[in-house]
Amino acid sequence: MGSENLPVHVAIIMDGNGRWAQARGLSRISGHQEGKRNVKRIVKYAANLGIRYLTLFAFSTENWRRPKEEVNGLMEILRLGLQEERPEFIREGIKVVFFGDRSRLSEEVIREMELTEEATKFNDKLSLAFAINYSGRDDIVRAVRRIAIKIASKEINIEDIDDRLISQELDTRDFPDPDLVIRTSGELRISNFLLWQSAYSEFYFTPRFWPDFDEKEFDSAIEAYTHRERRFGGI
Ligand code: IPE
Ligand code: IPE
Ligand code: MG
Repeated sequence: MGSENLPVHVAIIMDGNGRWAQARGLSRISGHQEGKRNVKRIVKYAANLGIRYLTLFAFSTENWRRPKEEVNGLMEILRLGLQEERPEFIREGIKVVFFGDRSRLSEEVIREMELTEEATKFNDKLSLAFAINYSGRDDIVRAVRRIAIKIASKEINIEDIDDRLISQELDTRDFPDPDLVIRTSGELRISNFLLWQSAYSEFYFTPRFWPDFDEKEFDSAIEAYTHRERRFGGI
């Protein structure tokens, strides 16, 4: 596959950990553990393939609705995962950033996020974003607030608000819009992921649960993408 056809930014809605576990008579948390192992596998593979930006939807603003034990389990997996993988991110040249509202996260989780960002900030092989306590609408709400503050303080005028300015105020400001959005587990919806940013993304849906979405599956998604004809409203 020629690298000229590769999507620059791939974003993944990693769904189906719970059903993967349920099908095996395991707890939902075991499913999330297995999901974490798969994050390692796919990040490594995407980096070696030459993908420049990868965004992984790890926890949505709506996922707080889950039972407390599951939320706590997910947060612990995130915290430990960042701690354990930090040396690997450094070694592999992966720059890690986070999208989402940190204000509702625990100090312990925020600390691992900050340490990971700091330790990888000069890396330039793959930029990897974890979307944590993220939703597309919340991203837009927070951007609108920042813009309103700038207008109120007369830093900018209303006429300055355009497509580009809004993009610059979103969490994703340092990433190009996703070329390809993948969702695993057979659900055919966006579940409040990158709403603004996916305006012209190509979508790929697979019935595979996230823990089973391996290198071959990733290849199939990329392969499908290379056959899409992107018109961006033109002809
Ligand atoms: C993982 O899959 C996605 C997260 C919110 C962490 P789910 O936990 O949603 O698994 P299913 O959809 O219940 O199977
Ligand atoms: C989307 O999956 C969020 C993440 C993958 C983190 P959900 O399982 O929360 O989405 P719904 O509830 O099926 O739409
Ligand atoms: Mg789900």
